[in-house]
Amino acid sequence: MRIVVADDADRVAQEAADIVERFVSASESPALGLATGGTMEGLFAELVRRHRRRGLSFGAVDAYLLDEYVGLDRCDPNAYRSVVRRLFACRVDLEIGSLHGPDAQAPSLGAECARYERKVRAASIGLQVLGIGSNGHIAFNEPGTPFDSVTRVVELSRRTRGDNARFFPVENPVPARAITQGIATILAASELLLLACGAGKASAVARAVEGPITETLPASAVQLHSNVTVLLDPPAARGLSTSSPGHTNGSLDGSCRNRDGA
Ligand code: PGA
Repeated sequence: MRIVVADDADRVAQEAADIVERFVSASESPALGLATGGTMEGLFAELVRRHRRRGLSFGAVDAYLLDEYVGLDRCDPNAYRSVVRRLFACRVDLEIGSLHGPDAQAPSLGAECARYERKVRAASIGLQVLGIGSNGHIAFNEPGTPFDSVTRVVELSRRTRGDNARFFPVENPVPARAITQGIATILAASELLLLACGAGKASAVARAVEGPITETLPASAVQLHSNVTVLLDPPAARGLSTSSPGHTNGSLDGSCRNRDGA
């Protein structure tokens, strides 16, 4: 696992964009796993900037969402498909049919989860971008999620709904349920890129990368993957011990430092 602490959240976005750019430029038909949430906004903005300034193309990319709220209309501005279209897909040259996500308005959610799981597995995600919840969730896999979980409908925790309330108007609270890829689905990607910014993530990040691998902290499952980069700003990294194993010499460029000080 490479753990890289960038100078600030802007540098996290730039370093993450470097990794995404390398991935989409190196493959003829890249299957890119996208996350949502406030942390991703900087990454999306940076990718859009590179598309506009340098012609970075997403024309060959198929993008797959991790999760979607149940109970929101497809066009609701907080539906994750809408968010990703607004902040990223509609601002670059991604083909309209190349943004994939679970349909949370399908008549049978069970059948839809099975369909989306098959679709994601068939795609063989090459690079999966991840955020992390303050409770250690990845996608909407809340504490206690089995590591062999696949795409399914889940109940969101009180903490997650509280954390995400900032995106919702008071009259329309955060939905109680979502469709999410499972931990096993996520771990099937060839490469994982986990981003975290802010002190609110420090405890979850430290437990995820230095703590025991446990289903009570879903993000600790990334320790089971052989190709993971964790990209942090200094507040999100402040719970890390400099001496723990697994902090490799993974600095992405001179502007980053890793916890070994290399
Ligand atoms: P955030 O959410 O980027 O809005 O903090 C991350 C997550 O819950 O995965």
